[in-house]
Amino acid sequence: MTPLAIDLFCGLGGWTQGFLAEGWDVIGFDIERHIYGDHRYPAQLVLQDVRTIHGRQFKDADMIVASSPCQEFSYRAMPWKRAKALPSRNVAPPGRNPPCPAPRNARPASPSR
Ligand SMILES: C[S@@+](CC[C@H](N)C(=O)[O-])C[C@H]1O[C@@H](n2cnc3c(N)ncnc32)[C@H](O)[C@@H]1O
Repeated sequence: MTPLAIDLFCGLGGWTQGFLAEGWDVIGFDIERHIYGDHRYPAQLVLQDVRTIHGRQFKDADMIVASSPCQEFSYRAMPWKRAKALPSRNVAPPGRNPPCPAPRNARPASPSR
């Protein structure tokens, strides 16, 4: 049976292309349909905010990958005063690539060693 991967925040499908090349089926979730020239998402795309998804949508999944937007975090790592002055949470402008809330059952990571 062909394994199924779920690609959350799939964008144009960087993860998806790897899975497809290895013979997997993939379903991608994103809030936008990204099209750049001839490039578009190469598998089944579900247009949905990941904050509204339910686990039953993945009941047949063998793998779930997620690569949430990171621009705000990368910006904060820059040495500019303006970046350092950003508030510690919710740095994204409202309505555009909002930071993702932690899953309800998330626990803090254990310190390594
Ligand atoms: C880092 S990019 C994804 C890159 C992609 N995984 C790849 O391998 O090419 C982040 C993506 O998250 C999407 N996104 C942002 N907020 C989202 C949300 N709340 N629900 C679903 N997708 C979201 C953006 O539209 C964007 O395509």
